[in-house]
Order: sequence, then C-alpha cells, then structure tokens
Amino acid sequence: MSKLKVGVIGCGSIAKHRHLPEYANHQEVEIIAVCDIVEERARFFAEEYKAKFYTKYQELLANPEIDAVSVCTPNYLHAPVSIAALEAGKHVLCEKPMATSRKDAEEMIATAKKNNKKLMIAHNQRFVSSHQKARKMIENGELGKIYSFRTAFGHGGPEGWSADGKESWFFKKEEAFIGAMGDLGVHKTDLLRFVLGEEFVEVGAFVETSAKEFADVDDTAVCILKTESGIIGTLAASWSYVSSEDNSTLIYGENAILRLEDDPTYSLIVQYKNGEVVKYELGGIQTNESGGQNNSHTIDQFVSCIVHNTEPPVSGEEGMKSLQVVLSALESKDTKRIIRVQQ
Ligand SMILES: NC(=O)c1ccc[n+]([C@@H]2O[C@H](COP(=O)([O-])OP(=O)(O)OC[C@H]3O[C@@H](n4cnc5c(N)ncnc54)[C@H](O)[C@@H]3O)[C@@H](O)[C@H]2O)c1
Repeated sequence: MSKLKVGVIGCGSIAKHRHLPEYANHQEVEIIAVCDIVEERARFFAEEYKAKFYTKYQELLANPEIDAVSVCTPNYLHAPVSIAALEAGKHVLCEKPMATSRKDAEEMIATAKKNNKKLMIAHNQRFVSSHQKARKMIENGELGKIYSFRTAFGHGGPEGWSADGKESWFFKKEEAFIGAMGDLGVHKTDLLRFVLGEEFVEVGAFVETSAKEFADVDDTAVCILKTESGIIGTLAASWSYVSSEDNSTLIYGENAILRLEDDPTYSLIVQYKNGEVVKYELGGIQTNESGGQNNSHTIDQFVSCIVHNTEPPVSGEEGMKSLQVVLSALESKDTKRIIRVQQ
C-alpha cells in the first residue's frame, strides 16, 4: 500500500518535538512538505526530513501529492488554515485550541463533512496511559459514584518552549486569543470530559494576568465546573508555576480516590476506601521539561483513522465541546456570573 503523504504547517516547537518525529517514525507515512513563515525554520526541517519547504501555507496546500496536514500554527490561524486545507481535499490534524470562536469551530466541522475529510484535534492528554486507565475504571463502575475532582495544568510559561521565546505569539492577544486557559486549560476541559464521560453544564471562573506583565493575555486561571450528573470540581491553568510543572488530576469517587500524574514514579495511584493503595507505573505524561512518554499517540491515531476510514478519536465536535467550556469560563470572568455551557 502506498504511504500517506503529509505536510506540516508551522515548524515551531510542537512540530519539532511531536508532529515531525512521530510522522517520521510512522511506517505508513511520508513527510512531503513543511511550511513556516520563517524561511530558515522551514528550510531546516525540510532538510532534516528530506521534504519540500514552503513559506506560504496556500502553496503547500496546492501541492496535489499531499493527503493530510498537521496545523501547528498560532491559534488564530487554526481555523483559516484548517478550512483551506479541508477545501483543498486534505485530512487535517489541528492543534488545540481548535479555534478562537464557536462559529469558526462549527465552520471547520462543516467543511470537513462537506469535503468528506477527517478533522482531528490534537488533544493528546486522552492518550496518556494513566488517563486511559482512569476512564476505564470510571466507565466500568469501579469507583462507584463520582463526587468531585481537581485538576491543574501549570508551568513557568511558553517563553521557555515557543520557537520565538519571550517574543512569542503566545503572549499576543490578536494571535493567541487566550493565554494559559487556551494553552493549558483546554487540555484539561477535554481530559475531564473524556475521563468522566460527561459534559460540563455550568462554569464559573477567575482569569487573571499575574506573572507575565508584558503579555496581553491571561496567565493564571481557576475555574469551578459542574457536570450534567452534578460532579463538581476545580480546574487551574497557569503559566505562573515558577519552579515546576503540575499536570495532575484527582478524582474523588464513592469507592476510591484516583491520583493521576500526581507522583513522579506512579502515574496512577488508587487509594481505596478500605485503606488499600494500588500504585501503577504507566510511563508518565509528556512534559515540556522531561519528556515522559516519548510517543503521544496523536499521530498514530490520526493516521489510523485515515487509513481505516474511521471516526477520529478526537473529532471536531469533541474539540468544539472542550473549547466551549473555555469560552464559557471567559464569559464568566467578563460577566462575573456562573455560565450555562452551550451544548
Ligand atoms: N498538544 C499539545 O500538547 C501542544 C503543546 C504545545 C503547543 N501546542 C499548540 O501547537 C500550536 C503551535 O505551538 P508551538 O508551541 O509550536 O508554537 P511556536 O511558537 O513554537 O511555533 C509556531 C510556529 O508557527 C509559525 N507560523 C506563524 N505564522 C505562520 C503562518 N502563517 N504559516 C506558517 N507558519 C506560521 C511560526 O513562525 C512558528 O515557527 C499552538 O496552537 C499550540 O497551542 C500544542
């Protein structure tokens, strides 16, 4: 069978650390082209992966050889680039947050349907082993009724990560649209929807710019959330955790407490009501600092849904629901009210 021919648009850090190496390691994939507005970046990765390079994504999309693309650009370009790619007949793996508005997310979904192409959103936290195991335990009733949760995703900020450091688009409202809530918070709204198997119906939030005085987006947020069955909890998203990353989730159920990615060795710790404690060493989560699991499975899953013509494991609809919780949190911040989340 001929290989799937892919292009990667945006050659910054996520392309460098995840999309490009994971495509390159995939038996069924050939990297055909890369694109970045910074020519030397595009040229560098083109050489590394023996691909063509472009500085305009429209030109990459006009290449008829390409079957699928990864959209690894700043947030404000996710919708326009994805829509153009789907219209050009390419399957799309789009980074998170999928869009900067509900309207754009809906248009992405409609364009994928119209062109009969796959649209997957790169919510890789779903594929982390501890998270997968937690979902199964909750789904099969092992924890009993779930009462509450607390989740956090925080680190020192994207200046230590982005290809453009402190000058990065991450800090500019017109390109990023939102700060830590869009960068990190949306990972956790998606993760909790996945692990709990429920939708959020209400949200309240405080969203501040505390640590990054030079930025015009938020860097520190705390949300309170409620699901359809009444599970309540908190979500913190932050670029102000100055000394180490927190990527943990705790789930409090009738029969046990789950501690996910809360321990450097044991990525899942189950503390049963009867005092028994079971610790699982499942490989750890990918972090900006130390790596953790070295395959995010995002690329494998994207390729698999194209090759087998199946529904992407994180569809556009799923990405939109996770984004909507974040949009509702921002509305709560602006109105100082608890917001009902649009379904
Ligand atoms: N899934 C994850 O865990 C995860 C982690 C980090 C980042 N991301 C997401 O990936 C996306 C990219 O983030 P990053 O960390 O790689 O940022 P980055 O700043 O390192 O890289 C962005 C790249 O996009 C390029 N770019 C800007 N405009 C462009 C255009 N018009 N055409 C082509 N390229 C263009 C920039 O020159 C830069 O090289 C963001 O949406 C971010 O939220 C996801």
